[in-house]
Amino acid sequence: MPLRRTAPRALPHAARRPLSACLAGAALACLLSCSGGGTPSAGAPGLGDRLFPAAGNGGYDVTHYGLDLSYDPGSGRLSGTALITATATRDLSSFDLDLAGLTVSRVGVDGRTARATRSGTELTVRPARTLRRGARFETTVAYAGVPRLVTDPDGSHEGWFRTDDGALALGEPVGSMAWFPGDDHPSDKAAFDLTMSVPDGLTAVSNGELAGTRTAGGRTAFHWHSAAPMATYLATVGIGHYTVTRSRTPGGVALYTAVDPRSDDPRTAAALRRLPQIVDWESGLFGSYPFGSAGAVVDHLPSGQVGYALETQNRPVFPGDGDGPAVAVPTLVHELSHQWFGDSVTPSSWQDMWLNEGFATYATWLWEEREDGVPVSRSAAAAFADPAAWAFPPAAPPTAADVSARPVYDRGALVLYQLHQALGDAAFAKLLRGWPAAHFHGNASTADFTAYCAGLTTRDLKPLFATWLYGTAEPARL
Ligand code: TRP
Ligand code: ZN
Repeated sequence: MPLRRTAPRALPHAARRPLSACLAGAALACLLSCSGGGTPSAGAPGLGDRLFPAAGNGGYDVTHYGLDLSYDPGSGRLSGTALITATATRDLSSFDLDLAGLTVSRVGVDGRTARATRSGTELTVRPARTLRRGARFETTVAYAGVPRLVTDPDGSHEGWFRTDDGALALGEPVGSMAWFPGDDHPSDKAAFDLTMSVPDGLTAVSNGELAGTRTAGGRTAFHWHSAAPMATYLATVGIGHYTVTRSRTPGGVALYTAVDPRSDDPRTAAALRRLPQIVDWESGLFGSYPFGSAGAVVDHLPSGQVGYALETQNRPVFPGDGDGPAVAVPTLVHELSHQWFGDSVTPSSWQDMWLNEGFATYATWLWEEREDGVPVSRSAAAAFADPAAWAFPPAAPPTAADVSARPVYDRGALVLYQLHQALGDAAFAKLLRGWPAAHFHGNASTADFTAYCAGLTTRDLKPLFATWLYGTAEPARL
């Protein structure tokens, strides 16, 4: 199921910097540099996201990640180079990358060796020359090690999972830093090229399209190219034995699906046979499919290790654990709808997560109406009746541990249900297509969304949003 099955107990999250420290840091940096007219200063170690303040970094925008990596399933060792192309958004004497674990052997900026220091999940890079605002610069980081898992405030895990035949990388919310250095926040999207070398006989599957393979010396390198910008949390790689199927939807979307044979149970196979139809059906509702190809990765991991499917860009991941089918049709509908809501239109910050999960939940309600004749009103009524949905307003998860809790999904979908009632069929259909088009391959916030909705109607939507999006009290009725 799409909602995360989290560990029973929320774990303390010691490593994060409090927001106040970040703001103080930013204020101090400004005192030191703002009056000096371009005196270069250090880029902030975090973007000050309300829920994940240390995620991402200040002072630059990444445009491209070139990851040239090699994996040894026997030892679990990952090694290689990240080539990060970015633009400085201010004069920088140094900047940070997010990286958890692993050993860095060399850092260079624009071809010169750079000084690098590490503290927690921050890799601080001091280039030989100051980076001027607006300048494009290239950072290379050579690194290696056995990548780790990241434990979230809600006790769930992401990062790098070892499987019995390889590995699986999942990044939401802050797990990409476990396998490559970067600007690990949804607001900084970039194109990707990943080349993963694995022992002959294994396959490496990732986002984007397979641009080529090269075999030499008992190893095969798989080059995956993602032209569309991608948030770091949506990057994935699966390494192992997979049965690969290439096809096309009737509507013409290219498909590449990789299934671990050990998760290939009959119900999973039956669900995957619906994938082309679901992609085309969602394209009809939400607008043309936003990426160059679609598909899925179905892996096999021992019971309970992951506990969720993930909408990794253009190729969502379904980790089977032998406990029920790896893929169920509603989950497939949910993860594929995220290609529009989350992957193409990506939240500006983690508190905007309901824009992902609310739409994805609503997409499954639409599917169940069409497929099983369950009216959307009945799904909405069931969500409304669940006390867990009323723990907090969907646009304001109180802590990082709440980012994937029930209100984000169900109350998020109820906001859309209310909008359907208020806007009527025609304007609501426009919203479902127009919103993904308005922020195609970009980022959007909750404020962007309410402003967009206001433009669809002459009605005042403020009371609707005050109650359903921001309100803490449960309304008397649906
Ligand atoms: N986005 C996933 C889904 O809907 C669930 C999920 C996994 C998640 N990891 C997360 C949600 C971290 C929020 C934060 O299928
Ligand atoms: Zn989801």
